Amino acid sequence: MTVEAMTRTDATKTDATIELDSRRVAHNYSPLPVVAASADGVWITDVEGRRYLDCLAAYSAVNFGHRNPEVTATAHAQLDAVTLVSRAFHSDRLAPFCDALAELCGKDMVLPMNSGAEAVESGIKVARKWGADVKGVTDPNIVVAQNNFHGRTTTIISFSDDETARRGFGPYTPGFRSVPFGDADALAGAIDANTVAVLLEPIQGEAGIIVPPDEYLPRVRALCTERDVLMIADEIQSGLARTGRTFACDHWGVVPDMYLLGKALGGGVVPLSAVVADRHILDVLHPGEHGSTFGGNPLAAAIGTTVVGMLSRGEFQRRSTELGAHLHARLRALTGRGVIAVRGKGLWAGVDIDPVHGTGKQVSLRLAERGVLVKDTHGSTLRFAPPLVITADEIDWAVDRFADVLAEAR
Ligand SMILES: Cc1ncc(COP(=O)(O)O)c(C=O)c1O
Repeated sequence: MTVEAMTRTDATKTDATIELDSRRVAHNYSPLPVVAASADGVWITDVEGRRYLDCLAAYSAVNFGHRNPEVTATAHAQLDAVTLVSRAFHSDRLAPFCDALAELCGKDMVLPMNSGAEAVESGIKVARKWGADVKGVTDPNIVVAQNNFHGRTTTIISFSDDETARRGFGPYTPGFRSVPFGDADALAGAIDANTVAVLLEPIQGEAGIIVPPDEYLPRVRALCTERDVLMIADEIQSGLARTGRTFACDHWGVVPDMYLLGKALGGGVVPLSAVVADRHILDVLHPGEHGSTFGGNPLAAAIGTTVVGMLSRGEFQRRSTELGAHLHARLRALTGRGVIAVRGKGLWAGVDIDPVHGTGKQVSLRLAERGVLVKDTHGSTLRFAPPLVITADEIDWAVDRFADVLAEAR
């Protein structure tokens, strides 16, 4: 079905599904009223047969497109071989995956996990253990950035500034100190003899695609080296070609001590996350000190190996750079016509909307009615993060609809 031939039918299946959802699914999200039934590339089709251009890509987990054929071919083949043995045994898939991912990252070793939050938790545990074993720190602290988003576990929300994410979930895990993102002097001031790590998103995603000043990450890198603390880059949303480079840190020539990866690593098919670092860091873990039943399972490892192979070719990074330039130019052209500011890199754009045009959520709803799926973040910011297989024509189509929505709501 072409874009122009999009149909609009009675939304009975949609209503019934949303009604069941509201009775049976915990209300920890507030989704747009779109019920996906299938997806292909950049397009999602709902239960009524309506097509939507996906400009969220499951928060970057679908970087390579819905049901990317290389990824699904690997998944199908692996389903017919072996899917799960736990780490009680070896599988023939895990070591090749870790080998390929370590190579991609220029690091020695990989700790495989499942969700992004688990990778962050694991990175925190490794940093604390490294502090204890290597630095002899008994009361460790980790410096984080204000307005961070690293996931939803009890420890991670302990150092969040988002009151909705925190309220009612205490007591909180101690050992974190938060400084303004982008302020290297504040970071330097927060590091003391008990600091074991600095944990940052190189570009803050949930905060609204906040790109730091150019000198920031190189200074963070230098400070971490000087003060002998680990620089941990949470590239769970920013990494794996989203910004036009394999890692967002690459834009500034910065190599952290530890990468935290997730989302797109599982090819949009399985949860797969990882902590990637050199041997002298990951070697602090010994049998029994950390683990996960599904972590590094053969199905995920096979898919992850295919994903790393796709990233090694560089084509997704190139697409993100070239098409990202087009997306940003088109969005910036709406400045003064409902758009206040556009930030980001590659196919990742945070767009601040003039509040007279409605809240981010209201604009997202109107865009969904016109067949474009985006997500609001922080009130009046919209995030455009389409699968990296999107074409220039599809970007034009989405931005034209965005312009229509803004013009209509003025
Ligand atoms: C930077 C960052 N870290 C961690 C996470 C948590 O990942 P997950 O939702 O897979 O636990 C997210 C999710 O949005 C993220 O954006």
